[in-house]
Amino acid sequence: MAEGQAARAGIPALFTEPPPIQDPLVTETTELQNETLEKCLPYLKGIHDTQREPFNQHGVPALQRPDHLEYLYDSLEDYPAGFAGLDASRPWMVYWALAALSLLGEDVSKFRDRAIATFTPMQNPTGGFGGGHGQISHCAPSYAVTLSLAMVGSEDAYKVIDRRAMWNWLARLKQPDGGFRVCEGGEEDVRGAYCAMVIISLLNLPIDLPPDAEVRQYGLDTFIDGLPEYLSRCQSFEGGISGSPGTEAHGAYAFCALACLCILGKPEDMIFRHMNFPMLLSWLADRQYAPEGGFSGRTNKLVDGCYSHWVGGCWPLIQSALEGTQPAAADARKPSSNLYNREGLTRYILSCCQNKHGGLRDKPGKYVAPCYYDEPTD
Ligand code: FPP
Repeated sequence: MAEGQAARAGIPALFTEPPPIQDPLVTETTELQNETLEKCLPYLKGIHDTQREPFNQHGVPALQRPDHLEYLYDSLEDYPAGFAGLDASRPWMVYWALAALSLLGEDVSKFRDRAIATFTPMQNPTGGFGGGHGQISHCAPSYAVTLSLAMVGSEDAYKVIDRRAMWNWLARLKQPDGGFRVCEGGEEDVRGAYCAMVIISLLNLPIDLPPDAEVRQYGLDTFIDGLPEYLSRCQSFEGGISGSPGTEAHGAYAFCALACLCILGKPEDMIFRHMNFPMLLSWLADRQYAPEGGFSGRTNKLVDGCYSHWVGGCWPLIQSALEGTQPAAADARKPSSNLYNREGLTRYILSCCQNKHGGLRDKPGKYVAPCYYDEPTD
């Protein structure tokens, strides 16, 4: 790549040049932001030597589908010893791989027997799943296991889960203020609430708390009592949503809270009733940067490909809330009606995030894990 080389044809200047207005105050944050931008520009221009043909007429590289498939299938195989630290994340790794394979159109039911064999020993008799063998139950692996079993499908997969024990365990996570802890004795945040509601709805568990649930002493009768109000208290002064009341707004938590509200009722009822909508919209819109096109997770932080999922997942919920208020607008559901810049996000993912051995990275210069340890050459 030659210094100052022109961008490929067909790419709007919005994605090939630094922002026209720059903050004159130089801080560690602005320096990091400028470094990131400089690293992204050659990719966005389609001129980085590691990028592979073909590009389309808009200067966007193709999705390297065969490489991603190979990477995903490989990520479901054995890992070298260095991955022992990720032992507690095994259900997550299975879940992400199965979800991505499904999105690429692969039949993941072939993993059914392995999923059943992998997850069965992770279930605790007191309810829920740990991240690995002998680990206490936690809502994140329990969520990943439930969704993975749903993806591989069948009665046998469904029967792996002890629904009664799960119901009792989730009741022990429910808190007097309406929220959920992530594990017994653990922190209370919107991940707990979202995971619990996904599990309850997918497994069709009774919405009433068990008769002997401790939290009933505080006047709560159901899993949803006080929950929308708790989520509402997680909206911060910035308009975004934080993990728990009074902490910093973050895109991943925003997704958990909004998705949880949308499980509890219609998006147009729940989001408008329990969030300051203009503030939320303004904060969410600020998550997308130009020229990078990708999303950041929070104010003054950098773009990261993972927020294509967390922040990107908020937008259809927002869109759905808005469209729900105007049934006549249903025929206006076309890509151009997206409230975020879809083109920018497409460019960030395909130009900046595709790893040369498959898999998607955070940003240029970052490693992709698992499976390969590439030296970051860019
Ligand atoms: C900050 O990381 C990240 C967080 C504060 C939240 C992470 C939460 C999730 C990914 C959601 C998990 C969801 C479920 C359903 C269990 P950072 O400081 O490394 O990143 P940043 O600089 O981009 O904020």
